[in-house]
Amino acid sequence: MNTNSCESRPQNHAKFDRKSELKAFDESKTGVKGLIEAGVSKIPKIFIHDQDKLDDYRSASGDSNLSIPVINLEGINDDSARKYVVEEVRDACKNWGFFQVINHGISSNTLDEMISGVRRFHDQDPELRMKFYAREESSNKLMYNTNFDLYQASVANWRDSIYCCVAPNPPNPEDLPQVCSDIMLEYSDKVRRLGFTLMELLSEALGLNPNHLREIGCAEELFFVGHYYPACPEPDLTMGLTKHTDSAFITLLLQDQIGGLQTLHENQWTDVKPVPGALIVNLGDMMQLMTNGEFKSVYHKVVAQKVGPRISVAIVFRNMSQTLYGPIKELLSEENPPLYKQTSLKDYVSYVLLKGLDGKPGLDHFML
Ligand code: OGA
Ligand code: NI
Repeated sequence: MNTNSCESRPQNHAKFDRKSELKAFDESKTGVKGLIEAGVSKIPKIFIHDQDKLDDYRSASGDSNLSIPVINLEGINDDSARKYVVEEVRDACKNWGFFQVINHGISSNTLDEMISGVRRFHDQDPELRMKFYAREESSNKLMYNTNFDLYQASVANWRDSIYCCVAPNPPNPEDLPQVCSDIMLEYSDKVRRLGFTLMELLSEALGLNPNHLREIGCAEELFFVGHYYPACPEPDLTMGLTKHTDSAFITLLLQDQIGGLQTLHENQWTDVKPVPGALIVNLGDMMQLMTNGEFKSVYHKVVAQKVGPRISVAIVFRNMSQTLYGPIKELLSEENPPLYKQTSLKDYVSYVLLKGLDGKPGLDHFML
């Protein structure tokens, strides 16, 4: 194609071209990894972000000594240690929306094997991964693609992912890719149990009965996401994952030792430094809504890098039934009237996808 004629084209034509480029890329079914395998040294246009947005995203990180709290869960069965942990959790949820947990009971071997499992999936032959390439989520089936919002977002990110609903009905091992089925099931089960503990700690941090969040279904449904961020030949032109907040209750995130995740803390992008053996916990929009703004769902993003692949696994605690969630009654008072409308998470997620990830916070639309 002649670049000059392309530049003089009217806007809607340019948009049409982008659509067909997206489609051609999507139909390759081999993801960003497929581009690397084809030996690209320049990233395709569909991945190139606006420079002013990138500048905003890359604006000098804040105080490099500042980082999200690391909370030691050892001894939470002891009353006084637990009280202290609950205070730390409360403080982290109010001020950061993010924290890391250590001594959480999941062994480093399991964590390492989970990262390796996701790596094995994306590193296997294109014909083997292609079989899983899809855009329609279906229960108990693993889905593989590049950017769940490839066609909705204004620009694509340098990242491939696998997704699978793993609770309440775990998939059959034979339906999962052989290279990662065992560890996906083992890891998801362990994270589910850790999630129960975290829901108790969060409930206590809110001054509620320890079972409160679990009883209203916040640890029912788990969605597994295994991200693979290939090394990028032109990292200054793109992103690994655009600035966003998570929509659901909480996310438990496992990252490898490469780094690249940043959270927006007091208006400064702050690195979430890899801590060996740790899991990252972050709160989603629904938790901010339910706590009437007491706990925060904060912006985060992943930069693209020359080094890679970077691998991470997010387990999202969600509930996609019709259940409605609103500010928790026990937390409301005359001085603390409800700030948000109630909604189902399903409707909330549909709204956020429609609106596009990059822009105003989705919760704004649900304010009273
Ligand atoms: C996410 C997310 C961060 C990462 O999946 O929502 O923010 O490090 N992931 O991959
Ligand atoms: Ni996220």
